[in-house]
Amino acid sequence: MKKSMLLGGLTLTATLLLAGCGKSEDVLVVGTNAAFPPFEYVGGQSGDEIKGFDIELAKQIAKDAGKTLKVENMKFDSLIVALNSGKIDFIASGMTITPERQASVNFSEPYYEATQVLLVNKDNESIHTLDDIKDKHFAVQLGSTADMMSKKYTQKVTAFNTGFEAIMELKNGKVDLVLFDSEPAANYLAKNPDLKLIKLDFPPEFYGFAVSKQQPELLNSINHTLKNLKENGQYQALVSAHIK
Ligand code: ARG
Repeated sequence: MKKSMLLGGLTLTATLLLAGCGKSEDVLVVGTNAAFPPFEYVGGQSGDEIKGFDIELAKQIAKDAGKTLKVENMKFDSLIVALNSGKIDFIASGMTITPERQASVNFSEPYYEATQVLLVNKDNESIHTLDDIKDKHFAVQLGSTADMMSKKYTQKVTAFNTGFEAIMELKNGKVDLVLFDSEPAANYLAKNPDLKLIKLDFPPEFYGFAVSKQQPELLNSINHTLKNLKENGQYQALVSAHIK
């Protein structure tokens, strides 16, 4: 009797501990920054659902791993720290595969090709080539590839937690341009007709899911899911439904 009570107590403690860090055996926790439509955004019927292309892929990843998906929405520049501290199991956040990031995390096979573009106020006629963005005042998302890249062109960079805030700064005339990923930029442009999008000769970027270097099996499983989705046509169906 005593023994079973003790065991019961231990199980309860273990469950609480697991719950405390948001983890349990049958849950896969994905970290994202849901201010990056159409890849991840807050919306849906209830208005507080996290949706998007990456989330659909993440759901399939969890399903194939026999787990249920839990989404943790956080600041973009906290994602890698959260991953390496075990708070989340993987990152699905339109994250570009870069050598700097590969030093601390593993990436899946690339799943989407993007590039940076500029958003400027509609009446701005001053930018036609990469030379024209030299020394301009940039707004970017903190910790993004745009943030890193902007320093090649200018010292004047203001970084925000979301692209949305960067765009507000542009609309308020405080910066000259926003450097942002192509699809989210186009998405924001559709809601802000007083802006325009400029494509310059920026290099391609490839998005990957990031996994801790401690979790090679999860990485394999993610790559497997991606391969299956591409082969069975579901990947293309998701692109059509969410992106173009
Ligand atoms: N692709 C860029 C990067 O990796 C921006 C990604 C931003 N993603 C987001 N969910 N806010 O740095």
